[in-house]
Amino acid sequence: MIASVAAGALVGGRSWAGPPATLAAAARTAGLRFGAAVRASALDQPRLRDILAREAATLTPELELKWAALEPAAGRRDVAGADRIAAFARSHGQRLRGHTLLWHRSVPDWAARELASGGGWGIVDHHVTATVGRYGALVDEWDVVNEPIEIGARADGLRANVFLEAFGSDYVARALRTAHAAAPRARLFVNEYDLEYDLPTHRARRAALLRLATTLARRGAPLHGIGIQAHLDLGKGMIATDELRGFVAALAALGLTVAITELDCKEVDYIRPADERDRLVAAHVAGFLAAVLPHPATSAVSCWGLTDDQSWLEVTAADRARFPGAWADGSSPGLNRGLPFDAAGRPKAMRDALLAAFAAHPRS
Ligand code: G3I
Repeated sequence: MIASVAAGALVGGRSWAGPPATLAAAARTAGLRFGAAVRASALDQPRLRDILAREAATLTPELELKWAALEPAAGRRDVAGADRIAAFARSHGQRLRGHTLLWHRSVPDWAARELASGGGWGIVDHHVTATVGRYGALVDEWDVVNEPIEIGARADGLRANVFLEAFGSDYVARALRTAHAAAPRARLFVNEYDLEYDLPTHRARRAALLRLATTLARRGAPLHGIGIQAHLDLGKGMIATDELRGFVAALAALGLTVAITELDCKEVDYIRPADERDRLVAAHVAGFLAAVLPHPATSAVSCWGLTDDQSWLEVTAADRARFPGAWADGSSPGLNRGLPFDAAGRPKAMRDALLAAFAAHPRS
């Protein structure tokens, strides 16, 4: 039993280092980079700092690189939060994933108004160039456009966001070219959600994103990868394993890499004991990883946070309403348990699932 052998033990007379002790190290042996999203304010917590420093090779600022956070008023840039995460990454030998240059949900009001009134590409150019330029090689991957697909809107599957309204469907290629000019060595991504399940919207989204990627590749746009967000949800049924495998292979055939960018898992059943809940999450995550990790085009896995208390996922009123009478004694369902560590920083079954998945896919 390899897992029960202590690190540094003698195995067959030879010293054996044992299984990689951290997610970052285990991912590295699989030819992958493991990372996590973090908010600058969370860096006040010594325990979280330790976990991030130890377990992650890359950090994704969860909020701080979004346009609305960086430039809340025209010409007033606020880089304090992003700089704080950048300094943490530098001092721990980590890289940043740049998230995200253009996202319809993070356009500052002033910019939305200017774009809608024909203000032109100049403000986009300035935002992208200033943001990308500030962090240089520390950020070697950028989510240039986030969530450009919208199902049921336009025939081409593109979201009718403020950028498309102002510049037409070419805005994605244009943003990629602008980012490439500012950071010629960075790998540039389009990042998207709702790609993981055997549901009509997910099928349609995979197809629309593949069409967009194909168009961009044919036109020679500097697109290097697709981000699969992977906000998993135990309420959405089975992972679409075969379809996901086909999707990753189709992207790879276009010469693209695939990064899992925002992995976490929403629970459904909050009344089971915590260890059972953790096992359900871990099994689901393992199923997802088994679909996407085998293909060599998959280059990275990032979780959207590392500890449950930092997760954007919440136990909602609708979740509680599914269990009438539960918690009537004043107890609580606690937090959603969809990340690798609990709120006290203890590793959970999801971390084991990640380690096992990395161990199952060694690459030279
Ligand atoms: O910090 C303020 C707090 O001071 C204030 O009282 C409170 C009132 O609303 O807001 C707090 O800020 C919130 C922030 O998260 C920190 O919790 C913002 O309102 C809220 O909009 C923000 O949400 C973030 C969201 O993106 C929008 O930027 C989530 O944390 C973040 O997890 C989420 O991340 C997205 C990815 O970028 C793209 N993919 C989906 C993913 C999850 O929605």
